[in-house]
Amino acid sequence: MAPKFLSPQKPKLYYLRRIMTERILILDFGSQYTQLIARAVREANVYCEIIPYSKPFEIDSNLKGIILSGSPFSVNDQNAPAISVKDLVKKLPVLGICYGAQLTAKTYGGRVEKSSKREYGRASMIVQNETDVLLKGISPKSQVWMSHGDSILELPEGFEVLATTESIPVAAFKCNEENPLYGLQFHPEVYHSTEGKQIIKNFLVNICGCSQDWTPAHFITDTVARLKEQIGNRKVIMALSGGVDSTVAATLIHKAIGDRLHGIFVDNGVLRKNEFQEVLDTYKQLGLNVKGIDASKLFYKELKGNPEPEAKRKIIGRLFIEVFQEEANKIEGIELLGQGTIYPDVIESVSVHGPSVTIKSHHNVGGLPEKMHLELVEPLRYLFKDEVRKVGRELGIPSNLIDRHPFPGPGLAIRILGEVTEEKVKLLQEADHIYINALKETGLYATVWQAGAILLPVKSVGVMGDERTYEYTVALRAVTSVDGMTADWAHLPYDFLADVSNAIINNVRGINRVVYDISSKPPATIEWE
Ligand code: XMP
Repeated sequence: MAPKFLSPQKPKLYYLRRIMTERILILDFGSQYTQLIARAVREANVYCEIIPYSKPFEIDSNLKGIILSGSPFSVNDQNAPAISVKDLVKKLPVLGICYGAQLTAKTYGGRVEKSSKREYGRASMIVQNETDVLLKGISPKSQVWMSHGDSILELPEGFEVLATTESIPVAAFKCNEENPLYGLQFHPEVYHSTEGKQIIKNFLVNICGCSQDWTPAHFITDTVARLKEQIGNRKVIMALSGGVDSTVAATLIHKAIGDRLHGIFVDNGVLRKNEFQEVLDTYKQLGLNVKGIDASKLFYKELKGNPEPEAKRKIIGRLFIEVFQEEANKIEGIELLGQGTIYPDVIESVSVHGPSVTIKSHHNVGGLPEKMHLELVEPLRYLFKDEVRKVGRELGIPSNLIDRHPFPGPGLAIRILGEVTEEKVKLLQEADHIYINALKETGLYATVWQAGAILLPVKSVGVMGDERTYEYTVALRAVTSVDGMTADWAHLPYDFLADVSNAIINNVRGINRVVYDISSKPPATIEWE
């Protein structure tokens, strides 16, 4: 039986005027690939938004078309999610993908059934009508990615088959209702559909008539105007972390209101080596009005005697808010709080498996909005991470900030297993510095998604010259990933690992052993705590 369909959560109040540009709406039926559809649309320079299929929406002249996503449901399930495709297509062009295509076919009287041959993975699509605008320019045989238990066995009357595969009679179809109506049985948004992006682009440009005006430059002009409108002559405070999102968000807000943006960058004592000063220098270069607060001693004091990962996270989160609030109180008349929130954090997901279990209390380390009761300013709220980077480059933010690996809010505290002390931080900072610099110097930095060193609470025996040593072990971690949700360990060259190991052991007093972590996520996680 299919899992129970949960209703989406209520959205938070949001004050920034919506982005004014042509757009596509993606109605989400709970597929794991829905965000990939959105990213493919955005890559074609067309703005789009994802909303749960059941949410009402406005139709205005900027809305150019609708895409119906896939779903873990079968259209024949009793509680299968549904909308009226017939009503939609009266107003706009529609493209159904996988479940969306099956729902369309079934709505008009087609036959959708569990097929004897389920199709998962790669398949070869055979184009039957190369003159139609959807498959224009696509190879006669093109690799596509299938993931479905049901198949469309018969199309409704008046529908035309555009493509087949060796196993299924309908891989793509069309029908001319009031507006064009298309369906794809496969997932064009998935990397393995080699010409899928072109098919999506064909829908956007040839069928919906989108002018592909969604560019970083356009976003910047539009956003600065919207920020001016929202903020007026008020003041904004914002916590900066040296990360991509907060830096890009702050630069946009600064462009709109200048020094009425007050940035705060806190040294919590568990940053990387020299990071506090280097990041402050870059902010200065960018002309941002940022105050650096060295609160490291306070953090060390409170972390003492607390070896538990979650306790460390909570302490760091709480102290950060206290330090930030104290600084905020020194500035008169603050009414707004800037945040680097990005789209994946706010998409109202359609949950099909119920709430997930908390493995780590990650991303709420700050918890500032709940505490501060200030109006939020979130200029990146509708951007994906790769778009944030593009906007950052367009704004002239240097690559050492834009192309940084992610770094966790609790910093090195969750890479020092057990109790954190100032001495251990210094030790790890040195080892991490050697490792990260070596990655950068060899050009390997850009090939991994995230890397760092971990200080293990293990001492072992070694020998240096004629002396016996009894010192700490450092683990090196490097992973490849797309979004941090799953990750593989990076296959760094042996010679590189050998050089880094030598450099750490020879230069960092207190470390006599280096190991490399070869665990993927799942079942391991990226951070060790
Ligand atoms: P895991 O360890 O769960 O990490 O595989 C996935 C991503 O999240 C980062 N991470 C954190 N980020 N506060 C953060 O801001 C945290 O407490 C935290 N824990 C993990 C981790 O670095 C990786 O990018």
